[in-house]
Amino acid sequence: MGSEEEIQLTGRAGQRGRAEEGCRQDNLRAGAPPTHTLQHTQELQNILAEYWGTGTAAAFNMDGVSTAILLLLLAVISLSLTFTSWGKGQLPPGPKPLPILGNLLQLRSQDLLTSLTKLSKKYGSVYTVYLGPRRVVVLSGYQTVKEALVDKGEEFSGRGSYPVFFNFTKGNGIAFSNGERWKVLRRFSVQILRNFGMGKRSIEERILEEGSFLLEVLRKTEGKPFDPVFILSRSVSNIICSVIFGSRFDYDDERLLTIIRFINDNFQIMSSPWGEMYNIFPSLLDWLPGPHRRMFRNFGGMKELIARSVREHQDSLDPDSPRDFIDCFLTKMAQENKDPLSHFHMDTLLMTTHNLLFGGTETVGTTMRHAFLILMKYPKVQARVQEEIDRVVGRSRMPCLEDRANMPYTDAVIHEVQRFADVIPMNLPHQVIRDTPFRGFLIPKGTDVITLLNTVHYDSKQFKTPQEFNPEHFLDANQSFKKSPAFMPFSAGRRLCLGEPLARMELFIYLTSILQNFTLHPLVEPEDIDLTPLSSGLGNLPRPFQLCVRVR
Ligand code: HEM
Repeated sequence: MGSEEEIQLTGRAGQRGRAEEGCRQDNLRAGAPPTHTLQHTQELQNILAEYWGTGTAAAFNMDGVSTAILLLLLAVISLSLTFTSWGKGQLPPGPKPLPILGNLLQLRSQDLLTSLTKLSKKYGSVYTVYLGPRRVVVLSGYQTVKEALVDKGEEFSGRGSYPVFFNFTKGNGIAFSNGERWKVLRRFSVQILRNFGMGKRSIEERILEEGSFLLEVLRKTEGKPFDPVFILSRSVSNIICSVIFGSRFDYDDERLLTIIRFINDNFQIMSSPWGEMYNIFPSLLDWLPGPHRRMFRNFGGMKELIARSVREHQDSLDPDSPRDFIDCFLTKMAQENKDPLSHFHMDTLLMTTHNLLFGGTETVGTTMRHAFLILMKYPKVQARVQEEIDRVVGRSRMPCLEDRANMPYTDAVIHEVQRFADVIPMNLPHQVIRDTPFRGFLIPKGTDVITLLNTVHYDSKQFKTPQEFNPEHFLDANQSFKKSPAFMPFSAGRRLCLGEPLARMELFIYLTSILQNFTLHPLVEPEDIDLTPLSSGLGNLPRPFQLCVRVR
């Protein structure tokens, strides 16, 4: 079990040189301003039409005066952003940007992940791209990403700009804060989660209990088709809810259902072109209609729900006997209420709680859905996992964490699901916190950095058949479990997902208990199951599906 600070990576030979195939040598000087000018409003409209469909683009077709004002406004915002991010340094090469649009022309027509991966083939494993006015250094491939996140972990530990979250959290949670605030909130949260059993036996018992409720729900489907989204999310979310709010919710409790609906909807919007475009042009999208507006309503609803629970906690707080994460945070707030520099106040409580709920719900639920699809597509893999469960655990008790060491095949399958599904394909954005020499370049302080975890998980130097689902990637010649340093679904280094121990426990116990009791059956032929994601943005979303579970 990886602990919070445990970094799975070990050095590897075979560095991927920065002068990769076709790498252009026309390095941009640091902060060199875009040199082209926008020719015509039509160009912007075409791009809008491409991303959002003609309806929205038509909405942008306003009269000349307002268009000119809007473009002027955008130019000012764009230039101010570009100028503020200027710094000294020798930036990696990359495509030439246009003012305002940056490299949008090179990125359009496909999702951002595919476009960025394509550019890395042309410009190498370290390149610079402008997402609208924002300058970003993109890193790809295991060796490069590992050198940044692990070998230069401190320098790359900043959180990069992520407007869809930042506009809501205002830098107050763990996930989207920086500097001292991030360090303090992260240390505190890890400590409290550990006190409430994360990575220990006590949380394992909660997962086992919640797992048995989930099995009950699955049994009630009586072999009929169902959509797994809410059934899985409710159960997974209840684990982190019980740590945050002190107890689990019944599955039909309106609070739990509201949390799931908001989080699920937002994860979908953030994984769509709308989420991506909001991150590139937040000021523009704030003016336009679209699903991104629902995202902020959902955020507001979540905040209100958490705030209500905090008020209830305040009314019954006993500092000597904290019941949950919120009690611990409130107690810390009371201890530091005279300190004007304290990071413990209502906003950080609400946003940190939100980060934990968001992180602890949709990621695991999405991974489970990918796992279901994969196991149905490859029934022989499913059968072999079941055979191992029967042999090691039997049918008379639920699987527990201790069993994992004796179940190398199952362990390998779960790792391979996480590699193949690649749930957070572009990681959350990082930022260099000081001028950072990197692979012959100098990345100026404050530059955002995207680490394409997708290119790590699909790195052919690290995995024999990266495009295939192949549990052998995590098995040695003796069929014992084999770690891979390029397994990074939780990222690596200082910002490593702080829920990793919890998530790994959940995935193991849930999947093994389900397969111990049921066989998963698709409604279509296995070969017709499409494993390619429905959309890729913040998350790689699996295609919607129904399945039947039959008691074994
Ligand atoms: C399969 C499940 C999960 C996956 C794939 C996952 C993945 C990730 C990734 C890729 C990051 C970004 C790391 C970086 O910036 O380098 C992250 C951060 C984070 N995750 Fe998870 N996560 C999972 C489960 C969880 C759970 C269960 C929790 C809650 C307990 C959680 C809470 C967080 C938080 C709070 C952060 C922000 C850390 C920081 O900025 O310091 N995650 N996660």
